[in-house]
Amino acid sequence: MLFRQLFDAESCTYTYLIASRPGGEAVIVDSVLEHTDQYLRLLNELDLKLVKVVDTHTHADHITAMGALRDRTKCVTVMGAESAADVVSMRVREGESIDIEGLSLEVIYTPGHTDDSYTFRLPDRILTGDTLFIRGTGRTDFQNGDPLAQYDSIFNKLLRLPEDTRVYPGHDYKGETVSTIGEERRYNPRLQVSSAAAYADIMNGLNLANPKMMDVAVPANQKIGAAQGDGAQAPWALTVAEVQNRCTGGDCVLVDLREESERRQHGVIPGSVHAPYGELDDFVRTGGLLREMAEKAGRRLIYYCAYGERSALAVQTSEGMGLKDVYHLVGGIDAWKKAGQDIENASA
Ligand SMILES: [Fe+2]
Repeated sequence: MLFRQLFDAESCTYTYLIASRPGGEAVIVDSVLEHTDQYLRLLNELDLKLVKVVDTHTHADHITAMGALRDRTKCVTVMGAESAADVVSMRVREGESIDIEGLSLEVIYTPGHTDDSYTFRLPDRILTGDTLFIRGTGRTDFQNGDPLAQYDSIFNKLLRLPEDTRVYPGHDYKGETVSTIGEERRYNPRLQVSSAAAYADIMNGLNLANPKMMDVAVPANQKIGAAQGDGAQAPWALTVAEVQNRCTGGDCVLVDLREESERRQHGVIPGSVHAPYGELDDFVRTGGLLREMAEKAGRRLIYYCAYGERSALAVQTSEGMGLKDVYHLVGGIDAWKKAGQDIENASA
């Protein structure tokens, strides 16, 4: 496995670049906007293809590079289901996984620092975001933070992992880089408490100043979606009603870009075909299924995904590969469901 810990000195943020092998797919967790070029250079030097970019939670102290990385690489943006960020292309919940070639990050919901805080687990290590730091824990006094929820997340989820599980935090202010669950259980001063109430007393008594970037970073991190704004007005962007009006004569085909896990959990639009976003190039190139459908069968392709972000990017990719008459469903299957349209279970 390739595992890189990168540091932003301004906000003391750790960013993680992970891949199963040189030349393979990569995921970046908790990126910082100012380092976008550095990430892209490193990906290029290591011959890695960035396929997913993930934030553990909505950050208040720096602007995420998720939007910039998505714009530059067309990668999928991922956060937890509770996130208010419109950049999110794929939302995950407790017990699900974030998969790339050769690697699977287990998703653990660890609210407390914020209500959208998640920890991601590989077999021997966890990325804890701002839930658990080395000899500290993330503050709980804003963004729907809750010390009792954080106690539960740390004591009933993270500290129950094997003692030698490595802990990679989202920040460090003192030069530490990695710890273990056993070490934190024994030496983290905030965890030497006898009850949740005692932990809450510590957290409620911290009286910390707000992060200097907070008023800028939180709104910025919530509004960097690609499918929003002008994109929704583009001629290739269709609302649910427009899809219904245009697709009466069987000349359209709806194309589901989501992953198998999302299809199983949220259902599919009846009659749609499946072309996972990560494999889109194969479907669109000469001889590919979607190319054949569009050019030989004369079908109009309408992409959809969870919220309309991957599908908007897929239109651009397809047009770039010379495919004409491609569209996407604004708001994805989420909008489809909200409009009261039929959904069916995904067949295996
Ligand atoms: Fe944070």
